[in-house]
Amino acid sequence: MTTAPPSLETDLMAMKQAAQTAIAGATTLDQLEQLRISYLGKKGQLSKVLGGMGKLSAAERPRIGALANEVKGLIQDQLEQSKSALEAAQIEAQLAAETLDVTMPGIFRPQGRIHPINSIIDRIVDIFVGLGYTVASGPEIETDYYNFEALNFLPDHPARDMQDTLYLPNGDLMRTHTSNVQIRYMQNHQPPLRTVAIGRCYRRDTVDATHAAVFHQIEFFAVDTDITFTDLRGTIKVFLEALYGDIPVRFRPSYFPFTEPSAEVDVQWQGKWLEILGCGMIDPNVLKAVGYDPEVYSGFAAGLGVERLAMVQHQIDDIRRLYNSDLRFLRQF
Ligand code: DAH
Repeated sequence: MTTAPPSLETDLMAMKQAAQTAIAGATTLDQLEQLRISYLGKKGQLSKVLGGMGKLSAAERPRIGALANEVKGLIQDQLEQSKSALEAAQIEAQLAAETLDVTMPGIFRPQGRIHPINSIIDRIVDIFVGLGYTVASGPEIETDYYNFEALNFLPDHPARDMQDTLYLPNGDLMRTHTSNVQIRYMQNHQPPLRTVAIGRCYRRDTVDATHAAVFHQIEFFAVDTDITFTDLRGTIKVFLEALYGDIPVRFRPSYFPFTEPSAEVDVQWQGKWLEILGCGMIDPNVLKAVGYDPEVYSGFAAGLGVERLAMVQHQIDDIRRLYNSDLRFLRQF
């Protein structure tokens, strides 16, 4: 009976020792993986040692085989343990590195807001688009023809007076209302039409709590074969209800050169009536000026004061607050 050459058992023990020391010294998962390959891999040291098994006697083989399995198991266990420990340490390190001090003062990032004029314009246009209106626009620098003449203003109408209108040296003017868009739009489109136009207007008005020299209007108008004053009233009622809900509204007879009959609409603001729009049935002379036959077509039109609508919505006491960019005021919206 031959005994196992002492070298094989010694080799196994030496390998076990070396592996245990190396694994204990590994500091990264990468190193551990390298050690696993070098000791237990297909071409690793254990395989090499076991390569000598063929030379063992049949009696010695099981003992050395069992010993080799035991060594393999030990190394495997140690690798597993080290791996878990290193992984845990890695998570600890990551948590420590990513810790947030939630008590640290934050970084102030100023945030913009939509100006109350823009937000009410958006809402109003949405309401009219919902009613089937299309959106149009026109120039702020306008000729006398589009701002006045085609709208049936007689040559001596007081609104043409230098007091109210800002004229340019060449005789053109800053439009005093958005009604110019009615003429421009109707010249280029045939009825039936339902159109809304938004824009800035200019007047040589004395500025006070309800008047600005530069302000916004929204014009809406409809032309068809069978439009009546009832349609106008209904449209204004639906519009004001969509904007404000159920609030007191007053219709007053009025006069505009471009509508007949004409009316103004007031709503409550700061405990009194405030005019928010002018309206009426488009005057036959205006229809004629754009080439429509007033025997066939009729229409209504209205011009809304945007600043005043915003003042009513937010109960703003003075129109000038909308323009002096005071952040204490603007931050409320
Ligand atoms: N353009 C008028 C103004 O600025 C408002 C107005 C009145 C517009 C009657 C209209 C209208 O379309 O039909 O005072």
